[in-house]
Amino acid sequence: MDKDTVEIIGAEAQRSNLGDYEQARQSFDWVDEEKKFSWAESGRLNLAHEAIDRHARSGLGDKIALHYSDPEREESYTFEQLRQESNRAANMLRTLGIGKGDRVFIFMPRTPELYFTLLGIIKIGAIAGPLFEAFMETAVRDRLQDSGAVAIVTTPKLAERIPAHELPDLKHVILVDTSKPGGSEASADDSLLPGDSPFADFHKLMGEASTETEIEWVDREHGLILHYTSGSTGKPKGVYHVHGAMVQHGYTGRIVLDLRPDDVYWCTADPGWVTGTSYGIFAPWLNGVTNVIRGGRFSPQDWYETIRRYRVTVWYSAPTAFRMLMGAGDEAVSAADLSSLRHVLSVGEPLNPEVIRWGYRVYKQRIHDTWWMTETGAQLICNYPSMDMRPGSMGKPIPGVEAAIIDDQGQVLPPLRMGNLAIRTPWPSIMRQIWNNPAKFEEYTRIEGWYISGDSAYMDEDGYFWFQGRIDDVINTSGERVGPFEVESKLVEHPAVAEAGVIGKPDPVRGEVIKAFISLREGYEASDELKAEITKFVKEGLSAHAAPREIEFKDKLPKTRSGKIMRRVLKAWELKLPAGDLSTIED
Ligand code: PRX
Repeated sequence: MDKDTVEIIGAEAQRSNLGDYEQARQSFDWVDEEKKFSWAESGRLNLAHEAIDRHARSGLGDKIALHYSDPEREESYTFEQLRQESNRAANMLRTLGIGKGDRVFIFMPRTPELYFTLLGIIKIGAIAGPLFEAFMETAVRDRLQDSGAVAIVTTPKLAERIPAHELPDLKHVILVDTSKPGGSEASADDSLLPGDSPFADFHKLMGEASTETEIEWVDREHGLILHYTSGSTGKPKGVYHVHGAMVQHGYTGRIVLDLRPDDVYWCTADPGWVTGTSYGIFAPWLNGVTNVIRGGRFSPQDWYETIRRYRVTVWYSAPTAFRMLMGAGDEAVSAADLSSLRHVLSVGEPLNPEVIRWGYRVYKQRIHDTWWMTETGAQLICNYPSMDMRPGSMGKPIPGVEAAIIDDQGQVLPPLRMGNLAIRTPWPSIMRQIWNNPAKFEEYTRIEGWYISGDSAYMDEDGYFWFQGRIDDVINTSGERVGPFEVESKLVEHPAVAEAGVIGKPDPVRGEVIKAFISLREGYEASDELKAEITKFVKEGLSAHAAPREIEFKDKLPKTRSGKIMRRVLKAWELKLPAGDLSTIED
């Protein structure tokens, strides 16, 4: 591409933590970053200690760590209060016999209790499994089963979606009332489970628990968190991250989020997704920064009001949200007070140049695109305040990380050639394993020395990376990753559905929406009512975001001779493109 044809928005004149990108790259060494943590000297390592206790104990005790609000609640907690509440949570879990290495899930809306619990799990060296609250029974069951979770902290209402009789490892269901601080007597419904009641009352146990605890010191390779995510085949996979990832959470918090001591930071993601933990919890608190959590539903007015109320300075969100905010119009921005903002970032899906231009005009801010994945644990390719931005580009790899475009044989391709976006292994936050499924892990590292992302991209002559698409059939709807197989499996459980093939259909606001092609069983008639019923079935069985927005009935679906539905052909139908090589098709 000719450099002159590339649109450039210049670097912001302000000071930034990174400074000159090329210089920072040259002088960078991860070892220097490790020295910034207290374990570098003490040898005692635990991410929750570094994120909370270290600050509480070194002069930041009275600093606000968390501003929480939703339409019903509004609370703030200092680092010292978070230290105590997470100690209580750690003790609560220990009272139940839960300890190091156990998988403990969290299934509740974003409320302070979620954050106390997650930190408590980490403090005892257990492995946290956060679940998005929109998950329905099948999605919950698959994740708890695969991980062998021993406990889950959830609300009485969400507990109804936990099929405990199918989960022999699950010993404790800890019920929390998230409607007000301290909750009320959670209604432990014993009828949900046979035998010894596994129900426990969060508020009672927390009330009895001491605010002091012994932190479990762990190895940097010790398990921290399991994030389940989707691929194009098979059930969701448990991406396994370790405590040592904190080195990169801390570093990128400083140079990509550009966090400074007086910042008020807001990441809009839910901890059920990796952005909501790596950047909704770890990065800001490792940097001792005040973190804003806003519960409740998205609305442009509500979001702008959140920025105004807390005087948010650094804001991390996603393209779908920015497109919806753009759709809400310039007037909504003029009516708001966003003057506190200093740095805005985006992740999860391609960020349209049009959105960047709009943001630049109305927010007077560049929206900095960042690229990474559940599996990478932290940001890898980013735009920095001190670097010229090319709208539409994901930016350049962070110092300490080498990215390249390689072909299927592992040959590095020259600039402007499209291929596999690959990262030189290892880096501190890379997943260490796919839980229960080492073979899946091998797929990412099948080319010696490289992590294969599954994205296709090219690099321009100046080293900027440009996202082109997924190589597999993974769907990205509103920035949420959906595996077609999981949706297809649910669809064929419906009595009317004989076969189903699911694809992502391009959508101007959501990036992609889910479209299902379905062939019906004998005796069923295609109708709009049936479409609605099938959609509802997926919504209630799996989750709302995984339900097809569009269904098309077909007499027959294209399949390979081995019986695999050819999503590629469905996609070509949808986009009215040539279907490509059909040599393996059934007939
Ligand atoms: O396809 C890429 C897309 O989202 C995928 C990772 O999804 P997930 O694991 O859910 O993590 C999302 C947040 C870390 C990637 O393989 N993706 C992520 N960021 C970008 C992106 N696509 C284009 N531009 C991005 N900045």
